[in-house]
Amino acid sequence: MSINIAIDGPSGAGKSSISKELAQKLAFIYVDTGALYRAVALYMVQNNVDIQNPDDVEKNLESLKLSFKHTEQGQRVFVGEQDVSDSIRTNEVSMAASKVSGYPAVREFLLSLQKNIAQENDVIMDGRDIGTVILPDAQVKIFLTASAQERARRRFEELKATDPNADYDEILRLIEKRDYDDIHRDVSPLKKAQDAIEIDSTNLSKGQVVDAIYQIVDEKTKKKNLHMKSIS
Ligand code: DC
Repeated sequence: MSINIAIDGPSGAGKSSISKELAQKLAFIYVDTGALYRAVALYMVQNNVDIQNPDDVEKNLESLKLSFKHTEQGQRVFVGEQDVSDSIRTNEVSMAASKVSGYPAVREFLLSLQKNIAQENDVIMDGRDIGTVILPDAQVKIFLTASAQERARRRFEELKATDPNADYDEILRLIEKRDYDDIHRDVSPLKKAQDAIEIDSTNLSKGQVVDAIYQIVDEKTKKKNLHMKSIS
């Protein structure tokens, strides 16, 4: 039986960098489901699809081939043969991903891809609905949060090295808008699973969060008698 760890939470709470580090420590595969929604959005934008129109988006899903591949640079997301891992990180794609992720057809399209990876591998999967919809039986569920101000501050610190025009207030506004949209959409809204453990990282370092989750995984897997490669 594979071991599944679900990590959900709002944008910018540190889910992906923490999940990556944990996956390395545990020798698990890391699955960034946000990258899948972003790749769908990029594909629609590149093909001039009206992303405000759910029917147009649904029609265009038929021709979309999405996959994860392991390369020398680690795990990358592909649309057909195109590695889109870097081009999905723009603001434009973030906002488009937030829009298309509210469409049931898009969620349905990505459902089996996510479930299949988790069935066949020990995974740490991060997203918004992993503990509630995708992996309701995950052995460990974490809900990772941080205040919107702290998440905007971290993003601002990251951006200002390369972008002299980075604007904290604008970043905060976009984070609050995406939070609102993710929480209030009808399908698979961002929600803490009943059995998830909440960690508020506002005043914690990345290392402290990684250690806290590692301890939880250790305890839960020992209790359930699951064999872990890297935890004795
Ligand atoms: O985590 P992220 O910022 O890369 O996610 C991009 C968008 O995709 C975000 O607006 C929320 C959405 N998303 C989702 O609806 N469900 C997931 N499991 C992961 C991401």
